[in-house]
Amino acid sequence: MSSTTVVSIDQTVGFKNQVHCTEYLVNGELKTWKGNTSEVYSTIYTENEQGEPGPTLLGSIPDMETEVALEALNAAEKAFHRGQGLWPTMRVADRLKCLSNFVEKMKLHREEVVELLMWEIEKNKADAQKEFDRTVDYIYDTLEAYKNLDRRSARFDKEGGVHAHIRRGPLGVVLCLGPYNYPLNETFCLLIPALIMGNTTIFKPAKHGVLLITPLLKAFHESFPPGVVNILFGRGRKIASPIMKTGKVDVLALIGHSSSAVALQDLHPNKNRLRLVLGLEAKNPGIILPDADMELTVKECISGTLSYNGQRCTALKMLFVHESIVEEFNTKFAQAVDALKYGLPWEEGVFLTPLPEPGKPAYIQELIQDAVDGGAKIINDKGGQLTHNYSFPAVLYPVNKEMRVYHEEQFGPVIPIIPYSDISEPLDAMAASEYGQQVSLFGRDVRKIGPLIDTLANLVCRVNLNSACQRGPDVYPFTGRKNSAVSTLSVYDALRSFSIRTFVASKDTPYNNEILETLLNSNESNFISTDYLL
Ligand code: G3H
Repeated sequence: MSSTTVVSIDQTVGFKNQVHCTEYLVNGELKTWKGNTSEVYSTIYTENEQGEPGPTLLGSIPDMETEVALEALNAAEKAFHRGQGLWPTMRVADRLKCLSNFVEKMKLHREEVVELLMWEIEKNKADAQKEFDRTVDYIYDTLEAYKNLDRRSARFDKEGGVHAHIRRGPLGVVLCLGPYNYPLNETFCLLIPALIMGNTTIFKPAKHGVLLITPLLKAFHESFPPGVVNILFGRGRKIASPIMKTGKVDVLALIGHSSSAVALQDLHPNKNRLRLVLGLEAKNPGIILPDADMELTVKECISGTLSYNGQRCTALKMLFVHESIVEEFNTKFAQAVDALKYGLPWEEGVFLTPLPEPGKPAYIQELIQDAVDGGAKIINDKGGQLTHNYSFPAVLYPVNKEMRVYHEEQFGPVIPIIPYSDISEPLDAMAASEYGQQVSLFGRDVRKIGPLIDTLANLVCRVNLNSACQRGPDVYPFTGRKNSAVSTLSVYDALRSFSIRTFVASKDTPYNNEILETLLNSNESNFISTDYLL
């Protein structure tokens, strides 16, 4: 491990299109913020005005006060209006129109958003473009899934002499908080289904990856009725905490750390009113069996551990390798890590990029040092090489339970390898873990793999056979056990997570039936309707 910090200019030309955002969206109005602002920097160094290398100024955002947060809450509450609001009672076709308008306007900002994703969170160009395109696809898929849901609800059931018209209804006011690693995709995977189900929302972007939301403010403003989407900027403690304390939030939708989720839940005075849609941290293991295809396993473990520098909740965060093949695996894996191209996000073919959190390289070094002190070695030549914004991926071997990197979600470029002799060792570790999102299982012999799958499926929520862990394709359920998630997200499941089944029941009598028939023919109710969209 290198202990010197190389302070150099990464790039001579700074960020050309600084974004100084003073607007926010509350109650259908794009208002101008006149209070304090916070500057937003990239950890990519460029030359400052004094000709010295330093973090690059990208722009600034409002540092909003609690008063405005409560104004946004009131706007969301007013737009829901105890379920009587325009948005929660709107016809399906009209709500779909608003979302379609939004996505068309959003698509016009692809280039700006991708540019900001590269500077703000330092995601490489291919992944930044993928994040944008995947989000657009997610919105289109959600529109289709909603039409399907509506088609299936456009009918009456009859059981025990009772007619029932069952639909899924909105829950109310949703507070939506996204993460820095997928500031567009993961946030919109909460916001869009919440909106389409008729909820009203307050949304605050994460600390990093915030400017990239600003080109979309106008699209939100022009596409939704007043109060349906409210967008605020600033600190969680001045915005999210006071909103939660009022007890008026019906759903906390958060992708982030379980400690933030618990702290926010604790502030809510009416615990049973509060629904939770949470995507939290994980410590997904890779388990490599003696007969695993070595080349394929190394390739998948590289992408699993180091895509976006391991800053993914789905990243492989520990590798359990059978002792009979660990030497061969270590050699090949360490070589593959050292061969990865590091560079600035926009450079051709770059896989590894600088870390957006200023304190992250030091934290990764702490984990490395702790493991080395406990007897592990860095087995790749470049492992732990340090610059002002990067710590080159370190492959640590052998790692054991006494080391911090065995337990902590590193969310960054360090890979612990744990040798095992008996399969009960990784299984016990998974059972003891506070997390239960996914696992990757590498091997071939079905007599071994079969029973293992049966056990693993009860410890996590996705078993990836001979492939890295991942969230996509987005139509599949994304969830976790224990501290890794609450509720399920997928194009299909998210519509359910942000709604509740509600129905109109009427006894099968001539009196009631006549009323129902008249209702159906009259268009007086948007709920009681058997119309649907193709
Ligand atoms: O940070 C967690 C993300 O949901 C991971 O998504 O597997 O598509 O990178 P991904």
